[in-house]
Amino acid sequence: MDDRPIGVFDSGLGGLTVVKELNRLLPEESIVYFGDTARVPYGTRSRETVMKYSEQCIRFLLSKDIKMVIVACNTVSATSLAALKGMFDIPILGVIEPGALAAVEATRNKRVGVIGTSGTIKSGAYPAAIKGLDPSISVFEKACPLFVPIVEEGWSDSEVARLTAREYLSGIRAAGVDTLVLGCTHYPLLAAVISEIMGPEVRLVNPAEGTAARAREILAAEGLERESRDPARADFYVSDIGERFQAIGSHFLNKIINAEYIEIEKY
Ligand code: DGL
Repeated sequence: MDDRPIGVFDSGLGGLTVVKELNRLLPEESIVYFGDTARVPYGTRSRETVMKYSEQCIRFLLSKDIKMVIVACNTVSATSLAALKGMFDIPILGVIEPGALAAVEATRNKRVGVIGTSGTIKSGAYPAAIKGLDPSISVFEKACPLFVPIVEEGWSDSEVARLTAREYLSGIRAAGVDTLVLGCTHYPLLAAVISEIMGPEVRLVNPAEGTAARAREILAAEGLERESRDPARADFYVSDIGERFQAIGSHFLNKIINAEYIEIEKY
């Protein structure tokens, strides 16, 4: 038993999609969330930069006495997870493996689409994980770099989002996939628009769901579940002024969140 919080980080507010699933599946667990809003996006940066930023995010979370890290960023999970696991002596969970597993379980025609940031798509992490589970599955990928700024701008339900989605998704749609992995934590906020373009027959996979389920398994296996009867806490930190983060995040999580500024470069 361990009453310390779970640490979660992402480049911005996208990782709140993981927080939402953690709240749903593990409501008794406390969470410390860090959104690197000063340095978003990660998805267009080099692996070295993403690695440096991620180390700082984890060092900050460790300063909050956490019991586990969830890398709620596909770009970091795809490019740097193994290296980060080797550096820190704490359970670290990424989102790629749970997302790949959910896609393999969902597909019927064995044609799976994956959308993500340029970094995630370039890494080849999703096709490797999916084919590792079932080599007969064909994977069709597309980088959608404009989706992140659209979400961060609060334009998830706009004509801009619709036009951008139509442009990005036409190839994957033509490939006849029956399952599409939302391989960036920001994309579930665009799920309605993406589903409109892909059609109702295409199942959208949000890796956050499988990640929360995997987190529950790890906590149980390692004896790290929270025991306290006090209400669980959720504390949010950002590396740049948090107004938009608070506004969009509060709307998405259905509760008022306050985000505290921290100087991430110090960590
Ligand atoms: N939300 C992050 C991801 O899941 C990346 C967004 C970005 O910073 O580019 O990949």
